[in-house]
Parts: sequence; C-alpha cells; structure tokens
Amino acid sequence: MADMTKKQYDLVVLGATGYTGQFIAEEVARIAKENEGLTYAFAGRNKDKLDKTVEMAKTRTGLDLQNVGIIVADVNDEGSLLNMAKQAKVVINCVGPYRFYGEKIVSACIKGAANHVDISGEPEYLEKVQLRYSKEAQDNGVHVVGSCGFDSIPADLGTLYLQDIFPGDVNSVEAVVSLDDTSVGSASINYTTLECAVLGLIHNKDLKKLRQELYTTPLPKPAYKPEPRGKLFYSNEAERWCLPNLASDRSVVVRSQRLHYELEKRRPAQINVYFGTSSLGTAIGGIFFGIFFYFMTSFVFTRNLLLKYPELFTFGLFTRKGPKRSDLSGLKFCVTLTGKGWDKKLEDPDEQYTQPPNITKVVQVKGPDPGYNSTAIFATQSAMTILKEKDKLPGKGGVYTPAAAFLKTDLCSNLEKNGISFTIKK
Ligand SMILES: NC(=O)c1ccc[n+]([C@@H]2O[C@H](COP(=O)([O-])OP(=O)(O)OC[C@H]3O[C@@H](n4cnc5c(N)ncnc54)[C@H](OP(=O)(O)O)[C@@H]3O)[C@@H](O)[C@H]2O)c1
Repeated sequence: MADMTKKQYDLVVLGATGYTGQFIAEEVARIAKENEGLTYAFAGRNKDKLDKTVEMAKTRTGLDLQNVGIIVADVNDEGSLLNMAKQAKVVINCVGPYRFYGEKIVSACIKGAANHVDISGEPEYLEKVQLRYSKEAQDNGVHVVGSCGFDSIPADLGTLYLQDIFPGDVNSVEAVVSLDDTSVGSASINYTTLECAVLGLIHNKDLKKLRQELYTTPLPKPAYKPEPRGKLFYSNEAERWCLPNLASDRSVVVRSQRLHYELEKRRPAQINVYFGTSSLGTAIGGIFFGIFFYFMTSFVFTRNLLLKYPELFTFGLFTRKGPKRSDLSGLKFCVTLTGKGWDKKLEDPDEQYTQPPNITKVVQVKGPDPGYNSTAIFATQSAMTILKEKDKLPGKGGVYTPAAAFLKTDLCSNLEKNGISFTIKK
C-alpha cells in the first residue's frame, strides 16, 4: 500500500478547464483559504487553458491563488495521469463523458495511490467501475467514490438522513427532485451532460447484464411494495406535479442501500425518484419533451441532429456555451423525500413485517443551482471528507457510492455549513 503522507497536493481538480471544473476549481480555492495549509492543484490537458482557469478563478473569488499548482494530464497519455495521481491525495475528476474517459483515470488513481471522487451521473459507468476496480482499490488502500455531484448526493444522503431521523425502519422512499419555490429565473445545462444523457439512453439495455455480474446475492424481499404511481401524479408531500426521473439517482441509492445491507446489516429501503414541477402545464410539456427526446435518440440520423444542434432540438435546455453565471444566481434546488415505514425497528434486516407501514416522515434537501454551484460544493466537501476522515470510510479502500462511503463521517453537517440544508418537513 502506497504512502499518502508524501504527496505534494491534498486536492487535485482534474478537468478544471471544463464548464463544471471551473466552478469546482473556484470552490476548492475558497475552501483552501478556510483550511490553512491545504495544498491543491488544477489539472487538465492544456496548459494555456489551465492558466486561464487560474486567472478566471482569481477574478471570481477575489483570492490571489498564489500557491495553486498546475499539472498537465491527458487521458490519452497514461503516464501523465499516473504522474498526476502520484502527487495527489484526492483527485476530483470532472472529465466527462465518463464512459469515454473515466476508467483510465480511476485506474491511474489506484496505481498512483490517489483517492478519487467524480461527478458522474452515468449509471452504467459507475456500476462498471464498482465491478472492475473494487478489489484493486481495496488492495491499494484507495477510496473511489462516484456520483458526488447533484447526481446523486441529495437523493443518496437525503435517504440516509431520512433513515437516521425515522423512529423505526423505513420501508420505501419517494424522492421528488425539483426547483425550490423561491427559485427565480431559468438556466440551461452545458452540452456535455446532453452527450452523457444520450449515450446513457442508448446503452440503457446493457445495464441488465452488468447488474447480473455485480449483484450475485439477492436482497431480502420486502413484504410491502411502495404505492404504485402513474406517468403523471400530484405529490401532496412535495407539493409538485411529478414525472418519472431517468437520471442516475435511483440506481445510486439502490446501490447504497445494498452496500449498507451487506456491510452494516442495515435494512434496505425501496426507492423511487421523480421530477417535480409546481405547474401542471410544465409537467405535461415535460412528458411531450421526454417522448420527443426518446424519439430523437432512437435513430442515428436524429441523434446526430440532436447532438449537432443541441439548442434547437432541446428548445434551449442544453447549450454549447453553458448557462450564463447570472442566470444561475437565482436558482435553488429542492429534493423532497417521503419515507414510509414503521415506528419500531426489527433487529434482523432479513425478517419481514407482518403489518403495513404505519408512519410517514418527509425531509427536504435544498441548495443553490443544482448543476454547478451545488455540484461544486458536493464534490469539494466529499473530497475534503476523504482527506480528513479517511479512517471512518469503509474498509481500507474500494469503490463506493456517497452514502456508503460517507455513512459514518460528518459530510452532512459540513454540507450544511457550506450552503446545503437538510430539514424535516413533517
Ligand atoms: N453530477 C452532476 O450533477 C453534474 C453536474 C455537472 C456536470 N456533470 C458531469 O461532469 C462532466 C463534465 O461536464 P462539463 O459540463 O463540465 O463538461 P465540459 O465543459 O465539456 O468539460 C469537460 C472537461 O474534460 C476535459 N477533457 C476532455 N477530454 C480530455 C482528455 N483527453 N484529457 C484530459 N481532459 C479532458 C476537458 O478539457 P479541455 O478543456 O481541454 O477540453 C474539460 O476540462 C460531464 O460528464 C457532466 O455530465 C455532472
């Protein structure tokens, strides 16, 4: 096992030149200011762009950034990735689509003894990394924690928070992801996330085989299934019209619940995730957009059109330039998690209840704009947690989801100190 004490940098932001990487680079610079002695570097494939990232971060944070390191690392040059990993205690990897670039970076981090967090929202990639790299990461004492952005920390840690405040066992969780009531304005999403979503939809069918390999032991079968929902319904708890949500949240929370059962003997909760909006008209529009999007991704010709003209074919939702910072400033997210369960706990997680759930609790996770400012807070605080509390993470290393990795750490309270709230609504 490599010696982490001899590393030059505590944190390295790889892909700092990207749209999201720039936000994370700025957040790391702010956190470094609050944590005396914290060392950090920005990494990417282009030195000139990295210099610009530093200049932009200086202007936006008002900090001098005198001690920031610069590391040139290209995914197509494995030696450069290993060189980066050898200098870092934790790499925050913002290079996407992860299905193209992620594995080489994870592999270099394991070999170079750097812990790794990413902001991937790609279930197939995340599960493949768990299947292929768990053992090697364990053997080398490296923690690899995926999906540490808006996908999927609010849903994953929100479920954990709900389980912690629940008087007994939680049977099922319904999570509704939406913008907060007090949110003003609307903003687009950067193009690379569209690319990830399109590729994810095309390869969705590959997940079944992958999961057969990954999950060899069955989970206990719950006696009570959650309430069935249609394609459009109103949630009284979230006060939103709800639609199915195909993002990575559900797959991440399911993995966390399984890991908690396997490692901690905790009873797994069933989870469903929806998008919510306060307007019925927007919800109906969302269904038509979903059908149109599915059609556009189904054929090579229409898919190429969608990726070539994202602004036109997503009605401005995805743009090549990314959203203007001023458009993000009024946005706030809200994830409402409704848990149904019992007022008592059964000791044995395999034992099933004979009476239906008798208690409902609702919690909310809130923060600034989901894609960028919140993602920067989630990723940076996740990396800081590994840095400061590695001894509380499971095993000596391995591949984990956020809720599985950070179960026994202070991540939730540190997020609360940095602009993310976890509250009990009911
Ligand atoms: N979890 C969440 O909620 C969340 C939120 C936002 C974004 N994301 C994900 O984060 C990823 C990045 O998104 P983005 O919008 O920031 O994309 P982006 O602006 O296109 O940034 C991509 C980054 O990857 C770098 N890169 C590409 N190829 C590389 C290579 N061969 N070697 C080294 N670096 C390389 C780019 O470097 P250059 O600048 O040199 O091209 C750039 O820094 C996507 O997968 C996106 O889905 C997730």
